[in-house]
Amino acid sequence: MKWIRNLSRINAQKFGIVLLLGCSLVLLAYFSTSEQFASPYSITVDFEVTSTHMSSDALVGDNRTSEKLAVTAEPQEKLVCNLADWRSDVCEMHGDVRMDGISSSVLFVSSSEIGNSALNETVIIRPYARKADKILMAKIKEVFIKSLNNPAEAPTCTENHSIPAVVFALGGFTGNYWHDFTDVIVPLFITSRQFNGEVQFLIAAMRTWWVNKYGNILKQLSHYKVIDFNKEDEVHCYSHATIGLHSHKDFTIIPLRAPNNYSMVDFGKFLRTAYSLDRDSAINLVEDHVEKPRLMIIARNRTRRLTNIDQIVPMAMELGFDVMVEEASFFTQVAQYAQVVNSLDVMIGVHGAGLTNMVFLPTNAVVIEIVPFGNIERIAQNDFGNSAVDLKLKYLQYSISEEESTLMDLYPRDHPVFKDPISIHKQGWTAMGRIYLVEQNVKLNVTRFRPFLLKALELLRH
Ligand SMILES: *[C@@H]1O[C@H](CO)[C@@H](O)[C@H](O)[C@H]1NC(C)=O
Ligand SMILES: *[C@@H]1O[C@H](CO)[C@@H](O)[C@H](O)[C@H]1NC(C)=O
Ligand SMILES: *[C@@H]1O[C@H](CO)[C@@H](O)[C@H](O)[C@H]1NC(C)=O
Ligand SMILES: *[C@@H]1O[C@H](CO)[C@@H](O)[C@H](O)[C@H]1NC(C)=O
Ligand SMILES: *[C@@H]1O[C@H](CO)[C@@H](O)[C@H](O)[C@H]1NC(C)=O
Ligand SMILES: *[C@@H]1O[C@H](CO)[C@@H](O)[C@H](O)[C@H]1NC(C)=O
Repeated sequence: MKWIRNLSRINAQKFGIVLLLGCSLVLLAYFSTSEQFASPYSITVDFEVTSTHMSSDALVGDNRTSEKLAVTAEPQEKLVCNLADWRSDVCEMHGDVRMDGISSSVLFVSSSEIGNSALNETVIIRPYARKADKILMAKIKEVFIKSLNNPAEAPTCTENHSIPAVVFALGGFTGNYWHDFTDVIVPLFITSRQFNGEVQFLIAAMRTWWVNKYGNILKQLSHYKVIDFNKEDEVHCYSHATIGLHSHKDFTIIPLRAPNNYSMVDFGKFLRTAYSLDRDSAINLVEDHVEKPRLMIIARNRTRRLTNIDQIVPMAMELGFDVMVEEASFFTQVAQYAQVVNSLDVMIGVHGAGLTNMVFLPTNAVVIEIVPFGNIERIAQNDFGNSAVDLKLKYLQYSISEEESTLMDLYPRDHPVFKDPISIHKQGWTAMGRIYLVEQNVKLNVTRFRPFLLKALELLRH
């Protein structure tokens, strides 16, 4: 038997002290020192074995996967867990992998000694990509990863699959549209797009409404039925599995870290296919178009409401836009809304989840994010600005003045809410959010806003 050691999966410098343990296997323990996202400990188990009992005869299922099969049926076992990333924990395994959903475990069965000792202890993964939020993560369904060296002790496979598996969890912040994309859909795209549909999803903490809501996307990513991981009294077996989802940054992708260099532009194209959206590019006003550019104002109706839409609409119409006002709510049918958004050239909205719909805009469309008062430009940039740019959209931020904030009706002008927003931020997310994101509505000064619409027209001359 010949062992191949493989040490350098993670950039060690990034995580401070590196301890090297073990003899026949390689185990790296990272004691993370990275700023606010330091985790108390993280371990990378990483080994490869060149001999195995696995044979492709054991694999049943769709033979469209023959190409993938050739890869996964290589006589090789491999288990790599990266618990050092601050956004998510991910384990990847090649070999005899058995999913026992009732006990929420993934078993790595290896008759080789090394395969067994590689995972001395159970590794617990919460397969939801928002690791830095400790309070949230504590509530995410756990998946236990164990290795067994005696196949006789392993549960018997009730179904063998020839395609790879990806295990992830719902729950968390799902139900918030932005989090649906940031925490699940974009990471799922990064993790599974490379399989071209030849992959199966096993979902822990299943939410049927969620799977139905994003059915178009899931069907485009996986041609196989979604498995309710914790429910079925079945043991699903795979020769390749990924537990957890890779995530790079909020609501976007870093191509250099993604398989095939996938980018947000690829993600946008993928969504256009999933929802049969026909516009790839926004109107170009340089060419002699008869049509008017289409502009939509996303109306929020509870918090951060635009209180004078009736003044904004005529002004935009006067500048030559075809204007519509739409609300995006939890109950909105994604497929229907995606069609509307794809027909637009300009989308305007106050900072909030509705702006997530930018993923359906055609390239070169303009997004104007109205930023409520309170020093939240950076949050706006992080939540939407970066992705807009990565989607090759034109992104503008309109920061409202004190006079345009309804906080004027609630706080005196000399209150720290106006004079010292940083001090409010220092009180923590809850206090900051209550004042600037919940109590505040926006009464746009159309005179002050007008140049932004003119700028949008200019950007549509591309
Ligand atoms: C799955 O594969 C294993 C190993 O080849 C085999 O023993 C078992 O019978 C298969 N199970 C099913 C349900 O096909
Ligand atoms: C799949 O397998 C069947 C039965 O062995 C065979 O007839 C068919 O040609 C195969 N399809 C592909 C795409 O390999
Ligand atoms: C694995 O477990 C054995 C016995 O429990 C222990 O002696 C050994 O040090 C452990 N190895 C690692 C790498 O943790
Ligand atoms: C990804 O991009 C890098 C840098 O541009 C390039 O060297 C590499 O070949 C690309 N990889 C793929 C799979 O396209
Ligand atoms: C918010 O939306 C609900 C349901 O569409 C509607 O009944 C209600 O009048 C709206 N509220 C405001 C303030 O627009
Ligand atoms: C609206 O904005 C214009 C241009 O910045 C400014 O001159 C005017 O005073 C503002 N109106 C109000 C009511 O604040």
